[in-house]
Amino acid sequence: MDTPLFQPIPGMVDLTAPEVLLWQHLEEQARQLLPLYGFSEIRTPALEYTPVFTRSLGETTDVVQKEMYTFADRGGRSLTLRPEGTAGVIRYAAGQGAAAEGARLYYLGPMFRCERPQAGRKRQFHQLGVESFGEPNPAADVEVIALQQHLFQSWGLHAFTIDINTRGLPEDRPAVTAGLAAAARPHLDALCADCRRRFDTNIFRLLDCKQAACRQVVDTLPDPASFMSAPSRVYLAEVVRLLQGLNLPVRVNPRLVRGLDYYIHTVWEIRHPALGAQDALSGGGRYRVTLDTKPFDGVGFAAGLERAVMAVQHDQPDRLAALQPPRPVWLVALGPAAREANLRLAQELRQGGCACGLDLGDRSLKAQLRAANRVGAAWAVLRGDRELAAGTATLKNLQDGTQVELPLADVVTKLNAVKGRGTTS
Ligand code: HAM
Repeated sequence: MDTPLFQPIPGMVDLTAPEVLLWQHLEEQARQLLPLYGFSEIRTPALEYTPVFTRSLGETTDVVQKEMYTFADRGGRSLTLRPEGTAGVIRYAAGQGAAAEGARLYYLGPMFRCERPQAGRKRQFHQLGVESFGEPNPAADVEVIALQQHLFQSWGLHAFTIDINTRGLPEDRPAVTAGLAAAARPHLDALCADCRRRFDTNIFRLLDCKQAACRQVVDTLPDPASFMSAPSRVYLAEVVRLLQGLNLPVRVNPRLVRGLDYYIHTVWEIRHPALGAQDALSGGGRYRVTLDTKPFDGVGFAAGLERAVMAVQHDQPDRLAALQPPRPVWLVALGPAAREANLRLAQELRQGGCACGLDLGDRSLKAQLRAANRVGAAWAVLRGDRELAAGTATLKNLQDGTQVELPLADVVTKLNAVKGRGTTS
């Protein structure tokens, strides 16, 4: 089979204007907001040693079992393209020892999961994530949920809902697993093949299977929190109480399970109706990860930027149009001397903050004006040998066709004042 040379790999996309403008806008807003909460940026490598992920996400999770891009380097060591951002940030922070205590880090970048591509589900996708390190504390979880709500509001999103739940303390897990297994065992035959496997390996994952038959069984299962110890239930109650104090509307959803195993206590997911089947805009929670011997605690979330862009386009349909770049001024040269002079003029205008384009070849006046129209220029500046000798230029309004010859310095002043926009004073 021929390898297509002009197409990206399925599930990976080329991102270009105009949509990329919305990405830049969301990223800029996040970069302004996150420092208000004390977060600074970290950029970790996209490639890590495989155990960084297997030890933190959990060997039995779908991500580790089916979705990682893993290969051996030349020395035979197993490497993995990061399927999410938390594990690499923990790898960094855990390596810093005491210096990382209480660290607050955010990241923004591509992640890789070998999933079946569909709308809102890509093989290379982008996450904006935050991680706040420290011992379990309901107030820390609530602060991160509030930050996430603030971020989404700053993006102009309003149609989202927040579901939260608890995974309880790690020491509760045997009791919860036993309780759920006892309730699910009589229905084993009704479950899909994946869930029959999950019944033995990771029974929590039964709870978020999308198959109709499995959902029917799940509806009959007791709330996992009913098998948890008092400290786990008290922790969730305190998170809910503090969220209410901030007027943050959340729904406690006992069926919410996150797909990663590092979570303890609070987990949450934000959904948006514009996203269809892949409706999770972001997910997060409190985690405890042991990479070598020492457990590492923190809380965080990650939002999928592909999905955030879809949601913003739904909630704010006019947003993208408002982000169009400035219309450039187009410099038209009549003859080689003017062409060379225009190269200098273009730099002068750009250094004054005015978007500017010019014909670099030797094309006719008509062809140059056509190029100006193609890029949506509002103004053209025309010069030939006569104007060069006189120190003037013709400023042409490309919207109404009017034109005026002015001293070059006046043309520059005018264009710098309007930054290429359609009107001059
Ligand atoms: P996650 O739920 O696996 O959590 O992913 C977070 C978000 O990334 C999802 O809600 C979704 O918006 C986006 N996402 C995930 N997979 C894809 C995909 N294949 N295509 C497009 N978007 C996708 C995590 O990754 C955790 N590390 C979050 C976290 C940070 N928990 C604590 N700290």
